[in-house]
Order: sequence, then structure tokens, then C-alpha cells
Amino acid sequence: MNKPLTGKVALVTGGSRGLGAATVRLLAEQGADVAFTYVSSEERAQAVVGEVRGKGGEAVAFRSDQADMSGAPALIDDVVSHFGGLDILVNNAAISVSGTVDDPEADTTALDRMHATNYLGVIAVIRAASRVLRADGRIITVSSGLGSRVGLPGFADYSATKSGIERYTMGAARDLGPRGITANVVEAGLMESGMQPPDPETLKALVGSLSLQRMGHPDEIAAAIAFLASPAASYVTGAVLDAHGGYNA
Ligand SMILES: NC(=O)c1ccc[n+]([C@@H]2O[C@H](COP(=O)([O-])OP(=O)(O)OC[C@H]3O[C@@H](n4cnc5c(N)ncnc54)[C@H](OP(=O)(O)O)[C@@H]3O)[C@@H](O)[C@H]2O)c1
Repeated sequence: MNKPLTGKVALVTGGSRGLGAATVRLLAEQGADVAFTYVSSEERAQAVVGEVRGKGGEAVAFRSDQADMSGAPALIDDVVSHFGGLDILVNNAAISVSGTVDDPEADTTALDRMHATNYLGVIAVIRAASRVLRADGRIITVSSGLGSRVGLPGFADYSATKSGIERYTMGAARDLGPRGITANVVEAGLMESGMQPPDPETLKALVGSLSLQRMGHPDEIAAAIAFLASPAASYVTGAVLDAHGGYNA
């Protein structure tokens, strides 16, 4: 297989399952040394490490709670001590909590944790990583079709976190461009694993709103991320790559 990422070091947040795990596997197959984070799935994380190493690649898992902004500098230090540097940051870890803005029963603790994880935590990792990213580096932020428009009730908070990190990534493209570092967004869509809307009716309505009329597979999002990480995307920065089956078409 062509290995365009040979010699590169990548960090994928939330690599223990779902889209993050698919991204860890693909970046490692393409030659990168891959560090990834998780918060609770120790066994799954070690299984992903074993799988990558079994195929001759290199991966290492770090437990790091993204909801705690103060943990980001230590995470980046750990990656740099382990692999000697950092070239590619994939901001993937996130959670989804839904509820309408006027719901008196809203679980505000869970909603606040989502804002901390999906928004403040991503900012903390970008800040820490940007201090060490090497020239020709990459920042790739995983957002959602709901980062551009909310589209359905109950997702104001989730959508706001995704919209916020999209703008922050654009700011990183501006700030880090002079150092030869690109920063882009992949808007993922409904995937066959991981986060799902809360009820089957919402899921059906969402699938019906897509041009392709089907859910996506995590490998299809990982492929979009790998493109932005590759030398082929050297002149792409400040872009949003829609990989959500035509939600906006
Ligand atoms: N699935 C969808 O339909 C969909 C649609 C659009 C966009 N997206 C976006 O795609 C990305 C991945 O989604 P997914 O469906 O693959 O998610 P997932 O299967 O639920 O996996 C989430 C990953 O993030 C990690 N994580 C969660 N909270 C964390 C925290 N506080 N600190 C560190 N790691 C944490 C999890 O670790 P543990 O295993 O340890 O919990 C896991 O590795 C997210 O950014 C999501 O917003 C997903």
C-alpha cells in the first residue's frame, strides 16, 4: 500500500472506537505513528493498539479527559516524548447530548460537560498542539453537518459546540498558515456506529434528508481525514469538507 504519511506523527483524540478508531487504523496503515486518546474505554483502546501493531503499524493510547482543559499540555508532552514530535492533530473526540432549549427538565450538567468536551477541550488541545506542530503540519477538526445548520429540534447545544470549533479551526488556519501548517474541518454525517440521534423517528427523518439516502461508514470519514492529512492536500487550508452524504445539497 502507498504510505504517504511515513515519518509523520499523528494524534487522534477519541480513538478508542467509532470514527476515531477508523482514523487511527487508516493513518497508521498510511505510515504514521499514531497516538490517540480515550476517556473510559481502556480495553477498546488497547484492542485498537493491538490491531494496529498486528498489521505492522505503530499506535499508543493515552487516557486524557478532554472535558478538563488543564490536561491538554500534559497530553501533548506525552505524545512528543513518546514519538519525538507532532505533525498531524485530528480533533475527533466529542459527545452528543440533546434537549430543546425550553426543556425545564434539561440535564444541564450533561449539557455543560458536552460544552467542555466538544468546545473548550478542543480549543485547549489545539492551543497546546500548535506550540509543537512541525512545519507542514495539519490540524483536522471533525465537525458535523449540524455544525453548519441545526436542521432539527433538540440540537442547539451540540450544534453550537460544532459551529464553535469550526470557527476556531479557521482561526488556527489564519494564525498557523505562516508556519506552513494547515487547518481544516471535516463535517461528518450520520454514521453506522457511535453517536446516534435519540429516537428511530428522528434517525429516519435525518436519513431521508440526505442526498445519498443512507448512513455513512466511519471508514468513509477516515478517508476524508486522511486526504487532508496527506501531502496531496498541501494547499488546502481553512476549508470545510462535507462528508455527510449531501445534507446541504
Ligand atoms: N456518529 C455520528 O453519527 C456523527 C455524526 C456527525 C459527526 N460526528 C462526529 O464524529 C466524531 C466521532 O463520533 P463517533 O460517532 O465516532 O463517536 P463515538 O463512537 O461515541 O466515540 C467517541 C470517542 O470520543 C472519546 N471521548 C468521549 N468523551 C471524551 C473525553 N471527555 N475525553 C477524551 N475522549 C473522549 C471516546 O472515548 P471512550 O471510548 O473512552 O468513551 C471515543 O473514543 C465526533 O466529533 C462527532 O461529533 C459523529
